[in-house]
Amino acid sequence: MASNLLVERLGAVAVLRFGAAPVNSLGADTRRALTEGVNAAVADSAVAAIVIAGQNGLFSAGADIKEFNTPAMFAAPTLHNVITAIENSPKPVVAAIEGTCLGGGLEVALGCHYRVALESAKLGLPEVKIGLLPGAGGTQRLPRLIGVENAINVILGGEPVPAKLFKGSPLLDAVVSDDLLGAAVKLATDKAAEVASGKPLPLARNGRVRDSNVEAILGFARTMVKAQYPNYPAPAKCLDAIEAAATQPFETGLATERRLFGELLISPESRALRHAFFAERAAAKIDDVPDSTPLRAVQSAAVIGAGTMGTGIAINFLNANIPVFLLEVGQDALDKGVARIQDTYAGQVKKGRLKPEDAQAKAALLTPTLSYEAIAGADIVIEAVFEDMAIKEKVFTTLDATMKPGAILATNTSTLDINTIAGVTKRPGDVIGTHFFSPANVMRLLEVVRGSATSKDVLATTMKLAKALKKTAVVSGVCDGFIGNRMIEQYSRQAFFMVDEGASPEEIDAAVEAFGFAMGPFRMSDLAGNDIGWHIRKRRYVEHPEITYSKLADRLCELGRFGQKTGAGWYDYKPGDRQAYSAPVVDELIRSYRATLPIKPRKIDATEIVDRLVYALVNEGAKILEEGIASRASDIDIVYLTGYGFPVWRGGPMCYADEVGLYAVMQRMEQLARNPYGDPGFWTPAPLIRKLALASGSFTSAGARS
Ligand code: 3HC
Ligand code: NAI
Repeated sequence: MASNLLVERLGAVAVLRFGAAPVNSLGADTRRALTEGVNAAVADSAVAAIVIAGQNGLFSAGADIKEFNTPAMFAAPTLHNVITAIENSPKPVVAAIEGTCLGGGLEVALGCHYRVALESAKLGLPEVKIGLLPGAGGTQRLPRLIGVENAINVILGGEPVPAKLFKGSPLLDAVVSDDLLGAAVKLATDKAAEVASGKPLPLARNGRVRDSNVEAILGFARTMVKAQYPNYPAPAKCLDAIEAAATQPFETGLATERRLFGELLISPESRALRHAFFAERAAAKIDDVPDSTPLRAVQSAAVIGAGTMGTGIAINFLNANIPVFLLEVGQDALDKGVARIQDTYAGQVKKGRLKPEDAQAKAALLTPTLSYEAIAGADIVIEAVFEDMAIKEKVFTTLDATMKPGAILATNTSTLDINTIAGVTKRPGDVIGTHFFSPANVMRLLEVVRGSATSKDVLATTMKLAKALKKTAVVSGVCDGFIGNRMIEQYSRQAFFMVDEGASPEEIDAAVEAFGFAMGPFRMSDLAGNDIGWHIRKRRYVEHPEITYSKLADRLCELGRFGQKTGAGWYDYKPGDRQAYSAPVVDELIRSYRATLPIKPRKIDATEIVDRLVYALVNEGAKILEEGIASRASDIDIVYLTGYGFPVWRGGPMCYADEVGLYAVMQRMEQLARNPYGDPGFWTPAPLIRKLALASGSFTSAGARS
């Protein structure tokens, strides 16, 4: 178990191992323990040198993000105080770095006189990814050690860098392949001898930025940042702080860094990114499925259906080095599916992303087959056949009869009732939904759909498998469209209503893209295929005639304009070019369709467009939350951040609504409800919104659902 500080004496070297499970973050208790440990070692005449190391196989993940915006974050000793205690030590202090060394952890190491790292360690300053900049001197000490250009790469990249890449750089005095502690103690002992003979201790703060062309480097970086992050303040402020390292004395630069850090800390973008960080980790946890739930082994898999999704799903298993069977009804379809997988790998080899021998090794894990007997021993089977209940029922009846006991039976259905599918088997506890997003080998999101009979070990195993497949899994209950598509349907309905009322698809896409979405609803529909929505609407017209839709999208599909795949949708496309060009045919279609409506077209401004689209998501999200389809608001946010291109620096639709304030959201919905066109019931705020708004509550605060 981690204690905040373990002290050990090796000869005349005091080894201070700081810790706080699970990642040795530098919370208030750890900061205090480390500072007191350093002070005690300095005061101890039997100690000649100090080694600072982490616990649990890692140095530190940095400041404790959970403390941010709480008094504990500012409680003395702060990280600056910890580093000052180290820098003031007249005895050499050596950082012994293994595993992860990030953020404030690396900043502590930068304050040490010397640094030794294991080759396998990873060092980085990832603060930019949570909307911040390194705030404990990292922007001032790092450029002084490795230069402005390298520091920009580390600080703006935010990615952990393998220690071996810093071999020979002033950042690390030694990089070793084993016996880290031995190397650190030896270095500390040697340096203590040098101090005894009068040699001064080196400090990063005393260094000078040596780049000769700082202005040009910063100018170039600023241009890149402006283009890449127009709505996201952290990268530009990182550059401001790095510039201070090059142009200001150390203490002044440190004050600049502190001011900029403070500005970012209270920015909505950083709050949203920190929300996303914790939301992603929370999504992996299921309240009634404890970590101790026994798991089933998944060493082999089978995929039924070698179409768009089946082949993408199979690639996920191959990439994770899990052997996979691919089963089809006919040889032709099977051959086409296998060719699609081979083409994907060939493309990666061609782009230099994969070595030919690795592509071959992956392809060798694939077994195409037409036989259910061949796949009977697989640990998990994922069905990805046509979206037709009769066909799926037939497949699951066969799986029930042929698969070994204990195999997980998963379906990739996007709309059908998993309980009905499970009901055709004699083992409904083994049945689960795994809703991949297209392209399945690229998209990070996986909705794991928990049926009413799905057993806990099947759920826990599927969540673990998702991690092995490098997916971000979110658990959804059973409902039409699950979390993501159920919400996007309301968003699309609003988008189409707005075209009826006078906005153009271009105006709507532009407004929501300026808000930060990767793609507006019309470009997205063209990419996914307009026929998919058409198919769903046709079903709704029969099953739910009370739901109103604009018929414009149907008219578009009747013209065969299914989107990019037909070279024409809401926009026109040119062969080999994914750019959307405005389509005169669609302008004419809109004009003639509007003429049939009892509406006087009006200009709809960008604010109204964004509010109607985003609040459509929020209102449906609230219903999903109160029905228990999602177990926390942050799960809904993760679905939208990883599967639907919602701007990550806005934290997802529920976080965004919290940021606006639920009372204001409710008021806006009530105002939008006065619009005489569309669906009069659409803007009735979900009861949960009303309840939370009146109680000054928020979705993301605890207990939002109850
Ligand atoms: N503070 C608080 N909790 C943290 C944390 C941190 N810096 N880093 C990770 N955790 C928590 C996670 O929330 C998770 O908690 P949970 O078990 O309750 O869900 C647990 O540690 C394990 O984390 P992961 O599930 O992410 O474990 P992995 O092994 O996959 O990854 C990691 C470990 C690489 C350290 C990853 O968690 C990570 O990248 N952490 C964030 C690092 C970071 O952003 N550091 C900078 C902090 S800001 C800072 O230092 C400011 C300074 O400049 C002043
Ligand atoms: P697709 O039409 O590209 O592929 C379906 C494949 O299943 C075809 O190759 C067909 O030959 C095969 N097939 C049909 N009946 C079969 C049977 N009885 N046994 C074995 N193979 C059979 O369809 P797509 O797009 O791959 O969709 C598959 C499933 O994934 C559907 O349930 C769909 O709703 C779902 N889905 C689709 C997404 C998409 O964007 N295309 C996204 C998420 C889920």
